Formats: sequence, C-alpha cells, structure tokens
Amino acid sequence: MKDLVENRSRLGFGKKLSLARQAVKENGFLWTGLMGIYYLCSGVAEKAFGRAAARRERLGLPGMNSVALNKEIWESWDWGAAGDEWSPSPEWKASLVRNILEKYVPDGGRVVEIGPGGGRWTEYLQKRAAKLTGIDLSQACVDACAKRFAGCDNVEFYTNSGCDLPRIDDRSLDAIWSFDVFVHINRAEVEKYAAEFARALKPGGVGVIHHGNVGGKRGGWRSDMTDTAMREVLEAAGLQVDAQIDHWVDGGTEHEIGLYDDSVTVFRKPGA
Ligand SMILES: C[S@@+](CC[C@H](N)C(=O)[O-])C[C@H]1O[C@@H](n2cnc3c(N)ncnc32)[C@H](O)[C@@H]1O
Repeated sequence: MKDLVENRSRLGFGKKLSLARQAVKENGFLWTGLMGIYYLCSGVAEKAFGRAAARRERLGLPGMNSVALNKEIWESWDWGAAGDEWSPSPEWKASLVRNILEKYVPDGGRVVEIGPGGGRWTEYLQKRAAKLTGIDLSQACVDACAKRFAGCDNVEFYTNSGCDLPRIDDRSLDAIWSFDVFVHINRAEVEKYAAEFARALKPGGVGVIHHGNVGGKRGGWRSDMTDTAMREVLEAAGLQVDAQIDHWVDGGTEHEIGLYDDSVTVFRKPGA
C-alpha cells in the first residue's frame, strides 16, 4: 500500500482518471470512493508533515521531542508488552543481542542503561553486567522495571532530569547502553548527555547509543539528530567514535537497526 501511495506522484491526471474508471468498473463506486479519500488524505498528511518538519528546522523547534513531552508520553504508555511491540521479530531481537549488545557491552562490567522502558534490553544487560543501573525520565518505567527485576540483586532503577546520570561516579562505568531512546532526544539534550558520558565512563569505557539519522524529516517521531550530529557532539565532549551502524548481516540475513533509517553509534572514552 505504501508503494502505491508513493507511486502517486509519478502518475499524471489522465492516468489517475483511467485508473479510477477501471477501479469503479471492477470494485464499484463506494469502494473506489473510500480509496479515493484514503489517497487524498494521505497526500495531505504527507504535505503537512513535510511543512511541519521544514518549519521545525527553520525555527529550531523541539517538535515532539522535548523533555517535557517525552515525560508526558512515556508516563502514560501501556508497558504491558514491555517494549517488544517495537521489535520487528523475535529473530531480529535475538540477532541484535548477539551482534550488537554482546559484541560491544563487556561481560561482567559496571553498566548504565538509559531509558530501559519496560526492560526489553535490561533482561540481557542484567545477565551480562556485574552491576546495572537503569536511568529513565519516566517514573512509570522505573516502577515497571523495579517490579520486573525485583528478584535480581545486581540492578537498580531511578529517574533523571532527561539529560544527566545522577548518582553515577566519575570514571566508574565500563559501558553505557541505550536503545530506542535517543531517537526521541534532541541535540540540545544529547550534548548534555555527552558531557555526562565523558565524565562517567572509565578510560576505555564504551557507549552504544541508538539514534535517528534523518534529522526528524521522516516519520517515527524522530528527533533532530543525524549520524554527523552524533559524531560532532561526542567528539566535542572528548569521546572517540568507533562505529556507526545502520544494519548488520547475520547468517545471510540483513537486519536494519530501525524502521526510520536509524543508526547505532559506538564510542569510547580514550585513554585506557
Ligand atoms: C521507546 S521507549 C524505549 C524503551 C526501551 N529502551 C526499549 O527499547 O524497549 C523510550 C524510553 O526512553 C525514555 N526516555 C525518553 N526520553 C528520555 C530522556 N531524555 N532521558 C532518559 N530517558 C528518556 C522513556 O521514558 C522510555 O522509557
């Protein structure tokens, strides 16, 4: 259906009319009328999104990605599916754990997860880390994770202001992990987080952060971040970017990091 909608701009008026005639002949007026409304409205929606994105860029608006809006949204989210509603398939998730999480987050380390949500990745980080701290903007997420991992003695969860790592000592972390969180965080807050990463990581400590790469110009309620912006922000904080990954191949299958051209940036604090 998406392909059909995208093809619309390549069709002239005459062609559209002849398609409509054929559709009426085969499906009747009502079905064709309803589909006509769908195509018209989706065209209007795309134009509105494009205009809003351009205005956001021109005026430096936060869009849907301010700290206050994120807090509102995630406090009222239904965490019943524990975040697995965003996993395209169980195979994708298992492969991401093997090829990204286990590849970069060291075994037996002191780890912080930013934005654990319902604990989709916490489950794997908790087993891997000597000690894991989950820090989230939303009290609802902290409560959900505290309940889910109540039996684990190497985890703790608490809230933050949306751009800091409170109660985490300087040079204390082996790894920082965050997935499906920085896709919703704008550059202004990412810069504050980057200063915190530089403060809290041990020399040689690693960060693995999933983020957007189209500056909020497509759907998925993405922030204004791109690969280039993430690299600039991290390097300005004195961190070294090791890799920027938008897909990986596992057993002949290619997996995308996210649905909206997202990336994972892997970085390190120099000096180990
Ligand atoms: C889409 S959910 C992802 C949850 C989990 N990481 C997952 O992948 O299932 C976004 C999470 O990020 C948290 N979050 C949003 N903005 C944040 C910020 N500025 N700082 C910390 N957490 C934030 C939300 O409260 C929520 O738990």
